[in-house]
Amino acid sequence: MKDADNILRLGDCLPVLNKFERGSVDLFYIDPPFFTQKVHALTTRDGGTRYSFRDLWASTEAYGDFLIDRLSECHRCLKETGSLFFHCDDTAGHLARLILDRVFGPENFQAEIIWSFRRWSNSKKGLMPSHQTILFYSRSGAFKFHTLTTAYSESTNLDQILQKRVRDERGKAIYARDDSGEPVTNGAKRGVPLGDVWEIPYLNPKAKERVGYPTQKPVLLLERIIQLCTDPQDLVADPFCGSGTTLVAAHLLGRRAIGIDTSEDALKLAAQRLAAPVRTESRLLERGRQSYVREDLDLLECLKGIGYHPVHRNKGIDAILMEEWHGKPVCIRIQRPDETIEDAAIALCNAAERKGGAKLILVVMEHQWGLLGRANVPASVTLVHSTTAAIRHSLSEVLGLRLVAGQ
Ligand SMILES: C[S@@+](CC[C@H](N)C(=O)[O-])C[C@H]1O[C@@H](n2cnc3c(N)ncnc32)[C@H](O)[C@@H]1O
Repeated sequence: MKDADNILRLGDCLPVLNKFERGSVDLFYIDPPFFTQKVHALTTRDGGTRYSFRDLWASTEAYGDFLIDRLSECHRCLKETGSLFFHCDDTAGHLARLILDRVFGPENFQAEIIWSFRRWSNSKKGLMPSHQTILFYSRSGAFKFHTLTTAYSESTNLDQILQKRVRDERGKAIYARDDSGEPVTNGAKRGVPLGDVWEIPYLNPKAKERVGYPTQKPVLLLERIIQLCTDPQDLVADPFCGSGTTLVAAHLLGRRAIGIDTSEDALKLAAQRLAAPVRTESRLLERGRQSYVREDLDLLECLKGIGYHPVHRNKGIDAILMEEWHGKPVCIRIQRPDETIEDAAIALCNAAERKGGAKLILVVMEHQWGLLGRANVPASVTLVHSTTAAIRHSLSEVLGLRLVAGQ
């Protein structure tokens, strides 16, 4: 496939790279087989297509030689201002680091990026793998680099950051003051410079951009790499492009891209994705993990003293009790201020639909006390009063007052 800005080439990347002009590429992203000694296979959600690629090797040496040949070609093709990002995990990451030092020179090693993600289960004995590694090498010291920033953490004293600091006569950092003794501001602060641990969610099974290709990477991850080291219209190359994630990210950012793969099915998929590029927005990244946790914790205040597991980012269930009920999970929802009992109960029922006969509990909040009838509430939902609701109700009865809702 070839259009104005995107080229897909079928075949082993080595002979294809041989034909690239020296110093023609701005950025390589390399996501090769990781030396897992497995065949990676996945079937699409509709069950229609099965994609696979082989990651089987005769020896460590054979894998090492395979990488050296291809990385040397990438090195030849990179511009002086170019960079290469090599994706690996702990299976052969140590080997890749040695090879890249040899091909690029240790002085051109720029960073070991930890791509960190959450997982919920571990099939093997030991610590659950929750990260992969991306090795960042530049072609020379003149590499292109754009500093990206992330949000300040809640604990950062922004007031302090916004004030300019200078050293006093003893070399101690002090706040700068103008002639009239007022603090001097430090100019606009755009955030914390991006570090080398990147928390980007792994593609969940329902993610819009998920196409069913084994080991497919998130577009968000590739966008970040591309933004760091390229400008619009620069050329990005991915010699192991699989389902074309790098090309999609490059396209969304206005860069040109070349993808190579030995699998014809993978390239067909990449062409389809390029025709209608999709990026799954991460609400988690937009708002920050802490904001979710804080929001959930506020809500769950009313379960204080009860053993439960918080359920984050679920539209209907807020918590699951640690104790089971006749071998079934007990799912809890806490009614929101802007929600009727009926709506809350329906949200809970919908979310619990596939929970196999779970016991459903809706905690009804104070402002709905008068509506505690069961009208229109599904029979499977048990209503309980929050403690605040109970206290408010008793107080109203004792004092004969209609108490207003507080914080
Ligand atoms: C880890 S996957 C890449 C996944 C990709 N980053 C994505 O997001 O879909 C590795 C890919 O390398 C391809 N591959 C293996 N050996 C290759 C070679 N010698 N030349 C080009 N592609 C190769 C496989 O077919 C597979 O699609």
